[in-house]
Amino acid sequence: MFPQSVFPDTAQIDSKGELSIGGCSASDLADEYGTPVYVLDEETLRARCRSFIDEFRKLYPNTNVSYASKAYINPALARIFQEEGMGFDVVSGGELATLIASEVSTGEIYFHGNNKTPQELSEALNNSIGWVVVDSFHELRLLDQLAREAGKTQDILIRVSPGVDPHTHVYTTTGVLDSKFGFSIQTGHAAEAVRMGLAAENLNLRGLHFHLGSPIFELEPYRVATELVLKFAAEFREEGLEMTRFSPGGGFAIGYTRDQEPPPVSDYAETIVSTMTATCQELGMEPPSLVIEPGRAIIGPAGVALYRIGAIKDVPGVRKFVSVDGGMGDNIRPALYQAEYEVVAATKANQEPGEKVTIAGKYCESGDLLASDIMLPSLESGDLLAIPAAGAYCPSMASNYNMNPRPPMVLVKDGKSRLIRRRESYQDLMHCDVV
Ligand code: LLP
Repeated sequence: MFPQSVFPDTAQIDSKGELSIGGCSASDLADEYGTPVYVLDEETLRARCRSFIDEFRKLYPNTNVSYASKAYINPALARIFQEEGMGFDVVSGGELATLIASEVSTGEIYFHGNNKTPQELSEALNNSIGWVVVDSFHELRLLDQLAREAGKTQDILIRVSPGVDPHTHVYTTTGVLDSKFGFSIQTGHAAEAVRMGLAAENLNLRGLHFHLGSPIFELEPYRVATELVLKFAAEFREEGLEMTRFSPGGGFAIGYTRDQEPPPVSDYAETIVSTMTATCQELGMEPPSLVIEPGRAIIGPAGVALYRIGAIKDVPGVRKFVSVDGGMGDNIRPALYQAEYEVVAATKANQEPGEKVTIAGKYCESGDLLASDIMLPSLESGDLLAIPAAGAYCPSMASNYNMNPRPPMVLVKDGKSRLIRRRESYQDLMHCDVV
């Protein structure tokens, strides 16, 4: 059965068993753009933005939805997100430069990161970005000094680490004590940071932020951490902390495989908003603006990677390796996080699964396997494979390992496709080299 739940909204299988996305057939896309290629469904992308904005604002109109650019950003997408009314969060000067080049408004940009460089902080100040989310004592001092030198006062949030485990992969767990991110509430560092932030002359401390990790399939960690952080904030009211903004970060889960059932956006919204409003009421606190930062849940479900099969190697009694023309260079997630994906034979999607195969990439690493021991129809060299839920953290974490060019990105809608990033050339691979 075709795993519709992990594919973009417009994905379909026609009577011949061929996959189409946004009205464009997989084989036409592969012929036009080559493989591997990342296909993004514009309808799904926009629907995901609207769903976050609508579900949160329905319960709490004073919500800003900020797209976490690290999931993947480029100018064409930045314009779409801006059109949909999203703000942005960035974690590097490069992401910020991409947004500036895309001419998005800088007022709703949040700059995150545990070690922003002096240059990056100056870029934030020079471009008058709305918010710096301060993550360390070093940054508090540095940003205050840079703002003074620039003759500015920068609005900031302080990132606290609430010590709440969201039960996800250890590599993507952030809000616990043993984490490089944020000021721990438990150690007293968060309290010290709030006092320093309030005292800093060129910083305007306007609220708190936390991010627990990603992806988070449970609601309870958001509830516990929201309550804990708001109660922490209330302790500093008399010292002058006015919580005008509060952010519980991102981390909203998506389904990667057919058996996964992430909570609907409405459940995340209900949990966060009801906890926030109840806690504020209990504390006699004016409820702040709410800022949420989904990345994966916006672009992940919109993306499908298409690969073409080349070599097939059967080791009798051991394993059948089906190799494709991409791999860990465009999707590091299976190798890095043991992430699991659905794989669909894009032109044989009606055929019954007949054999157990392992999908290998083309990179020079034995660990370059995109999916292990999965059941697919009988496959031949030249067949196309589709991996859904590939829009987030695949292209953005792509590398040029083995000097392989990174794949193109194509936006599809109503039967039309549009290239929004071309395939890299060999010249691109060498363009920074100095001979
Ligand atoms: N806000 C902050 C402060 C974050 O650190 C992150 C993700 C997000 C928002 C967005 O989280 P999302 O809604 O996309 O889950 N490379 C990993 C994910 C790392 C996420 C890092 N921070 C992966 O491929 O699973």
